[in-house]
Amino acid sequence: MAEKYYGPSGIVEKKQKHLIPCVYHFYKNPPQLVRGEMQYLYDHEGNKYLDFYAGVSVVNAGHCNPAITERTCRQLKTLQHTTTIYLTQPIVELAEKLSSITPGNLTKSFFCNSGSEANEGAVLLAKLFTGKTKFISLSQALHGRTYMTMSLTGIPMWRTDNRLSDDVMFIPSPYCYRCFLNLAYPACDLACAREMVKVLQAGSFNDFAAFIAEPVEGNGGIIVPPPDYFSEIAAIAKKHGMLFICDEIQTAFGRTGKMFAIENWGVTPDILTVAKSLANGLPVGAFITNSEISESYTRPGASTFGGNPVTAETALATLDEHESKNLKENARQIGKYFREKLLELKDKYNIIGDVRGMGLMLGAELVKKDKVPAGEETDQILEYLKDRRIFVGKTGVGRNVLAFQPPLVVTRDNADEVIAVLDDALEKIPME
Ligand SMILES: Cc1ncc(COP(=O)(O)O)c(C=O)c1O
Repeated sequence: MAEKYYGPSGIVEKKQKHLIPCVYHFYKNPPQLVRGEMQYLYDHEGNKYLDFYAGVSVVNAGHCNPAITERTCRQLKTLQHTTTIYLTQPIVELAEKLSSITPGNLTKSFFCNSGSEANEGAVLLAKLFTGKTKFISLSQALHGRTYMTMSLTGIPMWRTDNRLSDDVMFIPSPYCYRCFLNLAYPACDLACAREMVKVLQAGSFNDFAAFIAEPVEGNGGIIVPPPDYFSEIAAIAKKHGMLFICDEIQTAFGRTGKMFAIENWGVTPDILTVAKSLANGLPVGAFITNSEISESYTRPGASTFGGNPVTAETALATLDEHESKNLKENARQIGKYFREKLLELKDKYNIIGDVRGMGLMLGAELVKKDKVPAGEETDQILEYLKDRRIFVGKTGVGRNVLAFQPPLVVTRDNADEVIAVLDDALEKIPME
């Protein structure tokens, strides 16, 4: 704990001196955050903020949740690290637990440290199992920061290098509000999913190892595919000998009202990736698959920190907290309530073009005339909410989607507070 706080300007100055410039931050006047307590954060001057972004869908069970941190600290003081060449118990307990809560027959886990690493591992596994090298991804996807996961990322802003892998082909995201094929659901008959067949025909059916997708695209702008999308696209993938990798890094662990978001579509992926909220804020990642696919990865694989006792015990404590507090049910109920309130604001303000999402993964897309993205206005609203001590997020290719992804412990009163302040913000901000 710092004895003397630098304050926001001191931190920005040191960031500029010592961090690589790509590490950006939100807000013109950002606060220095020094403490967290469930759905609240505190700055260095003691101001209290309602956190409606949870460090981007990470702190699902609340900041510094005492039931979790108590077990983290106990483990930290007992056995911190050995790596997987020695036997420890938390890693196998966690793998067993995940096997009991993941959909279908996903019973085998590999632990690593981040979402990028989990997706990188899933890609390796798909290549090993199928013997093929190419992948299909979605135009609004974000899958990570490493070479291959950045190659799988469709959002231009997050494709930092323009010399990425040629082994990835993109098809349009199921973004019904701005359909890339200029069609409307359900008359479209899921034409965007069937674009996959065209890609396969253009290349060779035999080259493609897997299709990868987020069940709800987070950074793409909280994009929720139609109800029959995943059954259709997973069937196309299977018919052509491809696996379905489901990136649940942002959506898993109660966020959408189900433990795993893909359960909303009743589809079992071949490989499922998780990270972010699994250990409620400690660095962790995993890819999880079925027994048959796992058998293709037998050559030695090790991650120095993957599944270490501290993160594994913290993940177990987090999952216990999910069960004892039924956090996914709270996400479903508060999410439904909050969504209704957002829809009321949409009726009141033209700038809200669309409200979408599931559970407590909700987005409000802000637009000007003719659906032109209202990026600047989105920033102004974010700043206004922060000045009124509320944090929300911002996503979407046009950086014009307000993202509401709070810790799953938030209450109706918290939801009412955000809506009231958002209402004020929308009233004050000059619109076209
Ligand atoms: C859907 C999705 N996949 C992968 C990643 C990459 O995860 P990480 O930042 O832990 O590497 C993210 C990060 O935001 C994500 O949202």
